[in-house]
Amino acid sequence: MTFTVAIDGPAAAGKGTLSKAVARHFGFAHLDTGLLYRAVGAKVIAGADPVSAAMALDPVDLEDDSLRTPQVAQAASKIAVDPKVRAALEDFQRSFARRSGGAVLDGRDIGTVICPDADVKLFVTASPERRAERRFKELQERGLETSLDQVLADVKARDARDGGRVTAPMVAADDAVLIDTSDLTAAEAIAVAVKAVSAARKPDAP
Ligand code: DC
Repeated sequence: MTFTVAIDGPAAAGKGTLSKAVARHFGFAHLDTGLLYRAVGAKVIAGADPVSAAMALDPVDLEDDSLRTPQVAQAASKIAVDPKVRAALEDFQRSFARRSGGAVLDGRDIGTVICPDADVKLFVTASPERRAERRFKELQERGLETSLDQVLADVKARDARDGGRVTAPMVAADDAVLIDTSDLTAAEAIAVAVKAVSAARKPDAP
């Protein structure tokens, strides 16, 4: 059985939490596609050429904890505007989406470009201020030095770049279910997402 759930949206909207929860609930595999771009961004910071780095990407590269810093996030957003980088990462994402047993992929262009035929599409969003607050708290808990103003500026810069690029801009697919998590708890947002996925599953699915 293949069943693909596409979850898109801006940085820190809650895509990661929702994707993991949906994957756990239905027993699907999960791919955070932002990690692919972050891994390329990290290699570029270290001096690599973006397209070569994308073509040579290894799944073990995604397991590095240092990918979750604001610097790597900005580098990822910058290399992600390059159509050649994006093309180099397509096959990996599409084969993950088709794996047997169901898959959840989260990113920016999953429902529009990578898996336009996904069984369910969710577009998860929240106000920039709410997203910045959440990301700031998360970074503080991890002991990373930053300020709320800096995080908000980073969130807005990434929104503008990810949403304004020519190739595969971040945009909700026409058939996506919109979830605004600004005033929802994680549990409430998860309930909405699980309901949307349940509604799309065939009655005889396991
Ligand atoms: O989801 P994230 O914050 O880890 O993503 C980091 C950057 O990677 C994001 O700002 C833009 C890029 N990205 C993308 O262009 N397409 C995706 N499917 C996922 C991420």
